[in-house]
Amino acid sequence: MSTLVIHADSAKSKIDRNIYGHFAEHLGRCIYEGIWVGEDSPIPNTEGMRNDVIEALRELRIPVLRWPGGCFADAYNWKDGIGPRENRKRMVNIHWGGVVENNHFGTHEFLRFCELIGTEPYISGNVGSGTVREMSEWIDYMTFDGESPMADWRKENGRDKPWKLTYFGVGNENWGCGGQMRPEYYADLYRQYAAYVRNYGDNKIFKIACGPNEDNYNWMEVLMREAGPYMDGISVHYYTLPTGVWSAKGSSTEFDEQIWFNTLKKTLFMDELLAKHDEIMTKYDPEKRVALVVDEWGTWYDVEPGTNPGFLYQQNTLRDALVAGINLNIFHKHSDRVRMANIAQVINVLQAVILTEGADMVLTPTYHVLNMYKVHQDARYVETSLESPVYEMGGEAIEQISHSASIDDNGRLHLSLCNLHHANSAEISCDIRGMKAERVTGTALTSGEMQTHNTFERPDAIGPVEFSDFRVENGRLFVKLPAKSVVVLSIE
Ligand code: AHR
Repeated sequence: MSTLVIHADSAKSKIDRNIYGHFAEHLGRCIYEGIWVGEDSPIPNTEGMRNDVIEALRELRIPVLRWPGGCFADAYNWKDGIGPRENRKRMVNIHWGGVVENNHFGTHEFLRFCELIGTEPYISGNVGSGTVREMSEWIDYMTFDGESPMADWRKENGRDKPWKLTYFGVGNENWGCGGQMRPEYYADLYRQYAAYVRNYGDNKIFKIACGPNEDNYNWMEVLMREAGPYMDGISVHYYTLPTGVWSAKGSSTEFDEQIWFNTLKKTLFMDELLAKHDEIMTKYDPEKRVALVVDEWGTWYDVEPGTNPGFLYQQNTLRDALVAGINLNIFHKHSDRVRMANIAQVINVLQAVILTEGADMVLTPTYHVLNMYKVHQDARYVETSLESPVYEMGGEAIEQISHSASIDDNGRLHLSLCNLHHANSAEISCDIRGMKAERVTGTALTSGEMQTHNTFERPDAIGPVEFSDFRVENGRLFVKLPAKSVVVLSIE
């Protein structure tokens, strides 16, 4: 049996609820079909946006939603997506499948969708192919409450009052699809573009710079050195590829124990990655004023057979649930620096929480984990220490248990536990310092098979169930975790 010490008597930094953010790009069937079906669709909708999706996302309490990309953002001109829909420009989505983008979902629709699901917008501006003026006019259009050509245009388009916009990204992946830039060049461009991202009235913009790809520590160094004082946040992107090879990432549903293990091991790398980036940031920003924003994370597999390779449509199994649980535990641990994260992507793309097919919708195992974990949003992170049993496979070893804990405003302790082992259960004795466990409830997500997933034919093949394999003795909590499971306990 392993012992987990939980220092409930010394709660630390707040787990920013924005760590539970999402990402919606004009890519494949994320926006069109996933969110937008149009007002005349037989699929029940509110102002063109599907009701089933709105309801499911409201339940998830999504704090922030990033849009319109991704790579799409650095090819996007916001002016193509406003005004009467029948007059909007049609264009080719050069990054994703070469399909026609009719611009029916633009700024007004996105910001309305955010209102409908109760989330804050996070907009990515175009540095790769857009001008400083375009970016500055977009901010004016959305947030200025006075008289200006842009604010007047917004009013003509049916929105009198400005929107509240807090989060704005100055470019996306400018080291790659967003312009193939060197960090020195982008750092200067960032300073220039960001200078024109203005605060109008009491709308205060939180400016997010394009940060490194994965472990490009030099990019982080240069950006923090040259542009640190001009930013509020800096992004980092890290995807879990089971093989680590882009040309053969593997199937989302067909994999063996070794690939299961490799996937989870690759996910655990997020911890080292964040620690190293934080270390560099701390050299320039010891107060931790600048947030590290993991605005793209999740699994990336080969697309489902027979689907458009440019649409990045993949299924989502119990393995993805573990990936989500592990990443969230890591974000909690780094919550003094990581203050936003956005899983890629919300619907029908990569590690989606929702899949749709015509009028049907299924919730994925990843959805259920985010729903179980939402109790950590804005709670205070609690230090823990665990001597985890080891999970060995093919000559490599990782810790078998990933976990994190927090205390909410009502003094309730929440403990998230992921048992990574594909076959072995795990017993844990919890020594909770500063608190005597009296009432404990739990929820678990697990299955007999690693590959279990929800389909349109069997939408409830895997879902959360009540968990009761624990006992309390003299204030100490003993838990038996099933193999390959995610468990969240509420302790009072
Ligand atoms: O999420 C899919 C793509 O991955 C995004 O468009 C891009 O930013 C990243 O490379």
